[in-house]
Amino acid sequence: MKSMFSVIHSVGLFGLNAFPVTVEAEVTKGHQQFDICGLPDAGIRESRDRVHSAVLAAHIPFPKGRVLMNLAPADVRKSGSSFDLAIFAALLQAMGILRMDLSRCIFIGELGLGGTTHGIRGVLPMTMLARKNGFKEIYVPADNVKEAAVIDGIAVYGIHDVNELIGHLLGHSPIKAAPVYQPELSDVQKVLDFSDVRGQQKARHGVELAAAGGHNILLVGTPGSGKSMIANRLPSILPEMTRAEILETTNVYSVSGELSPEHPLITERPFRSPHHSVSAAGLVGGGSIPAPGEISLAHNGVLFLDELAEFDRRTLEILRQPLETRMVTISRAAGSASYPCSIMLVAAMNPCPCGYYGSPNKKCTCSPNAVKRYLSRISGPMLDRFDMHVDVDPVSYDDLSSQEKTESSAVIRDRVERARLRQKERFKGTEIYCNAAMSDNLLREFCKMDKNAEALLKSIFERFAMSARTHSRIQKVALSSADLHGRDVIQTEDIAAAVQFRGFDSKYLQ
Ligand SMILES: Nc1ncnc2c1ncn2[C@@H]1O[C@H](COP(=O)(O)OP(=O)(O)OP(=O)(O)O)[C@@H](O)[C@H]1O
Ligand SMILES: [Mg+2]
Ligand SMILES: [Zn+2]
Repeated sequence: MKSMFSVIHSVGLFGLNAFPVTVEAEVTKGHQQFDICGLPDAGIRESRDRVHSAVLAAHIPFPKGRVLMNLAPADVRKSGSSFDLAIFAALLQAMGILRMDLSRCIFIGELGLGGTTHGIRGVLPMTMLARKNGFKEIYVPADNVKEAAVIDGIAVYGIHDVNELIGHLLGHSPIKAAPVYQPELSDVQKVLDFSDVRGQQKARHGVELAAAGGHNILLVGTPGSGKSMIANRLPSILPEMTRAEILETTNVYSVSGELSPEHPLITERPFRSPHHSVSAAGLVGGGSIPAPGEISLAHNGVLFLDELAEFDRRTLEILRQPLETRMVTISRAAGSASYPCSIMLVAAMNPCPCGYYGSPNKKCTCSPNAVKRYLSRISGPMLDRFDMHVDVDPVSYDDLSSQEKTESSAVIRDRVERARLRQKERFKGTEIYCNAAMSDNLLREFCKMDKNAEALLKSIFERFAMSARTHSRIQKVALSSADLHGRDVIQTEDIAAAVQFRGFDSKYLQ
C-alpha cells in the first residue's frame, strides 16, 4: 500500500464564531494505529471510536496501516464531536474510496455508533460561514437539515447515516439537496393576546408606552392582579422581527442547542422567564466553553424576571452592565465569547411580603420595617435600570366579568410600529434604534419640549427633589409618548404620562 493523503473541509465553532477547519488524513504502512491531533484529549478518543464504528457499519475493512489525522488550525480550541463526519470523509478519501473532488464541500456532524448521524449545535452560523467562504455544498446531519437550509446559495444535504453519504458521493443513489427553508405561516401564529386582559387601562397604557420606546419596565402589584399575564403578552405588541433580527436571535438558539429541528427559525420575539433560583451563569452565560445565558436567549425580545425581590441580589447585579452595553462577554481559559443581549427587561414584584401594601381593597399585614426590607432587596442601581414603574391594581369584578373584548395585540402593535418608525428615522446614522437607548447627548439633541412641558417638568423636578437620572428617564419616556401620538415636540401630557410611571420612587422609597 502506498501512502495516501487527503484534505476535507469542515467548520469549527467558538461561541457564535464559526471558523474554517481542515481535516488532513494520511494512511501509511506500519502497525495498525489511528491517531488524531488537533483535538482535546477526550475528544480524540471518542471521535476515533465513533469513526471506527462508522467505517465498520459501511462494511469497509479498517485500514491495516497507520492512520494519522490533523485538524488545522491546531492552536484553536475545538470541541470534538462535530468533526466526526469530516474525519470519516477524510479517511475514506485517503483510503482511495472517495476519489471525487470534495474541495468545495463542507462536512459537519457527529456520528453515533453504527454510522448514524446525530444533530449538532451551531449549524446555522457554520452554514453561513460555508456560504460566505464560497463553498458549494454542505453535508449536515439529517436532524439539522432544515436549519442549514435557512441559508440560500449553498446546496444542503441532510445525511442520516454514512451509507447514505457514500451512496450519494459515489453516485449510486444520489440524494436531493434540501429546499430553502421558509417558515410556514403557522410558525408565526400568536398564542397570547392582549384581548384576554380585562380592564387594567393604566397597566395596558404603561406596557404600550414601554414597548413603543423599548423601555425597561417594572410591574408592581398585589398577587393575582395580572402582572405575569401582562408581561407574557409583551412580545405580541413589539414590532415584527426583521430578517436580520431573526437570524441574530436564531444564531444564539442554534449554538445553545435550543432550536427545534422542525421549526429552526425564531420568528417571534423571544420571551424568557428564568426562575428566581437561576444562577449567575444561567442568567448571563457561562461554562468551560462559554454558552449563552437567559439574557442572550432573550436577544431582540423580552427578559422577564418574575418575583424580582426573590432573585439573589448579586445575581441581579451581574445584569447591570450587559443591560447597558447590550452585549455579554464571557472569558474562560479556552478564550472569550461574546453574545448579543439587546433586550427589553420586564420585572414583576409584589410591593411587600404579604403582597397588599398600597392595595385599595385589602389591608397589608406587614410592619413598615418589613416593607422597607423587602424593597431594599433590589439595589438602587438595579431599580435605576427601569425607565418605568407600573402599579398593577387588582382587576375589578365588573371588568373581569365584562363580556366586552378589549383591544387586541395586533391593534396595539400597529401603534407601536408607527412610534418605532419615527425612532428609526430619528436615530438614522447612530448605533441606536429606540428612545430607551439614548445617551445623555442624544437626549439633549432629540428631546424637544414645548414651553408648558418644560415648565411642568421643572416644577415636578423641584417638588419631588428628583435625581438627574430620573429627570432624563422621564424625558425619554415622554418622547416615546410623543412618538405614540405622532408629535415631534414633547407636550405637557407626555410629561404627565411619563411621570405617572415613576410612582415607585415616591410611593415606596421614602
Ligand atoms: N386583568 C385580567 N383579565 C383577565 N384575567 C385576569 C386578569 N388579571 C388576572 N387574571 C387572571 O388571574 C390569573 C392570575 O394572574 P397573574 O398570574 O398574571 O397574576 P400576578 O399578578 O402575576 O400574581 P402573582 O403576584 O401572584 O404572581 C391569570 O392567569 C388570569 O386568569
Ligand atoms: Mg405572577
Ligand atoms: Zn404587606
